[in-house]
Amino acid sequence: MTTSWDLWASDWTARAEDLQTRGLFRTLGRHPESRFAHNDYLGLRRDPRVLDAVTKALANGLPLTSSGSRLLSGNLELFQSFESEFAQAAGFPTALLFGSASEANRAVICALADRHDVVLHDALAHASLIDGILHSGARRRKFAHNNPDDLRAQLRMGGGRIRVVLTESVFSMDGDIAPLVDLHQVCKEEGALLVVDEAHSVGLYAPNRTGWCELLPKDSTLIATTQGFGKGLASSGGMLCTHPSVISAIVNTSRAFIFTTAPSPLAIFAAREAWKIAQADHSRSNHLFELCNTFESGLKSLGWSLPVRKNATPIFPLMCGGLDASVQASDKLAQKGIHLRPIRPPTVPAGTERLRATITADLQSADLNEFLGVLREI
Ligand SMILES: Cc1ncc(COP(=O)(O)O)c(C=O)c1O
Repeated sequence: MTTSWDLWASDWTARAEDLQTRGLFRTLGRHPESRFAHNDYLGLRRDPRVLDAVTKALANGLPLTSSGSRLLSGNLELFQSFESEFAQAAGFPTALLFGSASEANRAVICALADRHDVVLHDALAHASLIDGILHSGARRRKFAHNNPDDLRAQLRMGGGRIRVVLTESVFSMDGDIAPLVDLHQVCKEEGALLVVDEAHSVGLYAPNRTGWCELLPKDSTLIATTQGFGKGLASSGGMLCTHPSVISAIVNTSRAFIFTTAPSPLAIFAAREAWKIAQADHSRSNHLFELCNTFESGLKSLGWSLPVRKNATPIFPLMCGGLDASVQASDKLAQKGIHLRPIRPPTVPAGTERLRATITADLQSADLNEFLGVLREI
């Protein structure tokens, strides 16, 4: 008898061989901590101020787990106070914490749209936004990357009762910044809702460091933002800022919210401490942005072309000329002690394989000089 395992194993073997042939097979491997490939942009993951605050909080009874879903037993005072502080800082009436930004994205998209609706997303939007659309059952449509005119044209194609538009504020793989003012204007004129993923902005931008949307007017067009804590805030978890009725819809209907243990109090406490530091101590972000500007000029002087960005961002796509060239560049860099893994489809569109370098505030100019020196040699 051919068992289900036999069938699965032979399917996967064929699929894995196909991925290998196309250079797309992934392995976890063991990699030394890389200076230029992580998302702790402010360099806070071992910050003594965060560690001390966490240690003290644990000594004072901060539990390691919330031990239940928010609706049953996990609705900690820590969560509620952080939600209201963060919402106020971001300029929204309410906020809701999640175990990750991916969950926040899924929850808000499913709350806003269903099979009667259309969700339009930037062509380079993160996988968790696309997953949210798939879960919602809404029709999915792409608009050209950072292109408000194309968004308008797509919205005018009609269809869908409710239209929701999704973008990132800083794009995770390209490091460019969405034209939020223009996108917001188009959505407003066309009667659509705008949701912005601020995963790579939180901790870095706007006076209260909640991300770029802090600077936009809050109205019934800019309906929600999501912030992830796994990057600039050196922790994990996610926040959704939105209208109270959207939160009520999530609390009543969202599978991503209801059927899961509330976030880790430890992670949320650490994220809140990191956010406070990001707000109070701008020396880190100033140092970061100086490094980003220096690195950008250095790369350009070596002939690398980068997406245009109106402000410094810590993400640098190094387009090596395809997958094989990216793999070779990655190997050569590794020989010199710089570990950047190739970014392959489906993380980026086929033909745009690259190395993704990130700059963080725990680096110094000497590190950048070393990196640029190695790039010059390879
Ligand atoms: C733009 C963007 N949104 C959402 C996420 C998901 O964040 P999390 O790891 O908190 O699920 C990521 C991270 O990988 C991201 O880059």
